[in-house]
Amino acid sequence: MQRSLAACEAALEGFVPIDAPAGLGETMRYAVLDGGKRLRPLLVLATAEAVAGDAEAAMRAACAVELIHAYSLVHDDMPCMDDDVLRRGKPTVHVKFGEAQAMLAGDAMQALAFDVLTPDSGVEPALQARLCALLARSAGHAGMAGGQAIDLASVGKQLDECTLRDMHRRKTGVLLQASVMMGAACGPCSDKATAALAEYGAALGLAFQVVDDILDVTQDSSVLGKTAGKDQDANKPTYVSILGLQPARDLAQQLRTQAQQALANSGLTGTAWLSLLADMVVERDS
Ligand code: IPE
Ligand code: IPE
Ligand code: MG
Ligand code: MG
Ligand code: MG
Repeated sequence: MQRSLAACEAALEGFVPIDAPAGLGETMRYAVLDGGKRLRPLLVLATAEAVAGDAEAAMRAACAVELIHAYSLVHDDMPCMDDDVLRRGKPTVHVKFGEAQAMLAGDAMQALAFDVLTPDSGVEPALQARLCALLARSAGHAGMAGGQAIDLASVGKQLDECTLRDMHRRKTGVLLQASVMMGAACGPCSDKATAALAEYGAALGLAFQVVDDILDVTQDSSVLGKTAGKDQDANKPTYVSILGLQPARDLAQQLRTQAQQALANSGLTGTAWLSLLADMVVERDS
């Protein structure tokens, strides 16, 4: 895993420009490099490994999904959204570079993700198209951006569990699930394995945001690298505020079991790394 992380770091370093105009490159590099757990790239690479996928396509997909994720964080932290000053242990992008640069860096990172997925050579055109479709659908109105819209519209509301789950799946879960499906698209994958991986990704994706809600109330800002206690301050409905802390912890464990069972039913043999990632999502402390 360490080797893949280092390779992904090096690939991102190569893709994010230094020389974009008027300081935009510096802003983009600040937002993307030197920070983050890189969970989404690891999911792409681990799944691609499980299906003996095309390594070049998988690394590009890993970087593309991280670019979308990092852009979503830049915008999520802006004053018009969560208004946060700390991210990945550093001042947020708009605090460091101003709001206009933060908005533009996010825009440029989103475009760069699709640029990275569509090289002139090295990845089959049909696979390029498939990866673009998976990423676009998970980032847009039906996925992350739509979920973020629900999140902002839900401030101060007591959501029922079904609506809360839908919001969490969209804003966070769908991009994590897409990371798995992009990895799967890089190699031969039976219908049965594809369905099992989709179930794994859905369970892990929801578990990730349940744990994010838990850590917001149980962890320190210094460990999180972002401001703790933000959800309660902003009056956001979360798994902790709606269900309570222990039921939220129990749900995360149930989702972990669901993810592990899906892997066991996949018929794939090389899933040890994916299994480890499901454990890490639930046991993490940041
Ligand atoms: C944080 O994601 C935002 C959510 C989707 C909850 P991560 O916890 O993966 O953030 P980084 O990439 O490690 O900074
Ligand atoms: C963010 O959810 C989800 C995104 C799409 C970025 P949060 O607002 O809970 O993420 P953090 O806690 O700021 O990382
Ligand atoms: Mg948010
Ligand atoms: Mg936030
Ligand atoms: Mg959060």
